[in-house]
Amino acid sequence: MNEIDWSKLSFGYMKADYNVRCTFKDGKWGELRVCDSEMVEMHMAATVLHYGQAGFEGLKAFRGKDGKIRIFRMDENGKRLISTSKGIMMAELPLEKFEEAVLKVVKLNEHLVPPYESGATLYIRPVLFGTGPQVGVKPANEFEFIIFVMPVGPYFKEGFMTTPVCVLRHYDRAAPYGTGRYKVGGNYAASLCAGEEAHAKGYSAVLYLDARQKKYIDECGPANFFAIKGNKYITPQSESILPSITNKSLMTLADDMGMEVEQRPVLEDELNTFDEAGMCGTAAVISPISRIDDLDENKTYTFSKDGKPGEVCTKLYKRLRAIQYGDEADKFNWITVVE
Ligand code: PLP
Ligand code: COI
Repeated sequence: MNEIDWSKLSFGYMKADYNVRCTFKDGKWGELRVCDSEMVEMHMAATVLHYGQAGFEGLKAFRGKDGKIRIFRMDENGKRLISTSKGIMMAELPLEKFEEAVLKVVKLNEHLVPPYESGATLYIRPVLFGTGPQVGVKPANEFEFIIFVMPVGPYFKEGFMTTPVCVLRHYDRAAPYGTGRYKVGGNYAASLCAGEEAHAKGYSAVLYLDARQKKYIDECGPANFFAIKGNKYITPQSESILPSITNKSLMTLADDMGMEVEQRPVLEDELNTFDEAGMCGTAAVISPISRIDDLDENKTYTFSKDGKPGEVCTKLYKRLRAIQYGDEADKFNWITVVE
């Protein structure tokens, strides 16, 4: 696999040598299995195919200057998968089993963890879905958990550079009491039309407003939204957004850097008052926003005129990366070193 040009990687699928799987059947989880096939064979009446009983996760492993592999906050992803499973009635994979599977799949594909200087990382994708047949709308009684990996470059091709996003009021991604707070496949299916329309118009993502009133900011396509106002880190509180582990980490870092952190409903009207704005997530890391165009209201909010990321976004980005790569001490206990 020496031929991979790590610096040219984008965010996309690449076959790895092995994936790890686990089946829930007869009321219990089986042993972890190592698999070298990319395929899944299942019943045509599996609940995932008809009723969208599927959830997934995304986390990353980083190779440090010392050559060691570090995994970022995998316990948080394991807990969120349990929350997702409760949300759409899937069997809950115990946290210990989730962590064992993460470590196993990374070790088995160790040679795919990009080198320190490359700027690329190993993306880890756990997915859980209902395989048991049902034709009535009922939860499955059999589930499959699969975890696979791939080396990736930046999610937005620009990397750590500003991009514009847009508000499209004729789409919602999730309803207030719906599944927006879970990482279920259906939320992403529901975001495809809006995402494609935004891309066709030259935007990197859609900034969703709250579905009920279209007044408050929810989140950006595949990432949470945050803003900087003076010494404040501000991010939306909402029932219909995914609790981002990156955002949670940035709130901790902002607080540690002496900033005030506000997690609260954020009005679209407040965008005028923010100095910097960004999207954050595992794939997106921090993707600073140059400008937000509200296409239905003909409004524009500008955060960067020269295309450069703001000072605070840059500081937060550097600090987060330093911890992830092991350049800075892991003072918050976020890292698992793969032995
Ligand atoms: N919001 C959505 C809809 C996402 O898909 C993601 C990606 O996982 C995030 C936010 C960011 O979450 P995290 O930082 O845990 O990756
Ligand atoms: C992630 O950041 O891990 C995501 O899940 C975002 C996207 C690829 C769906």
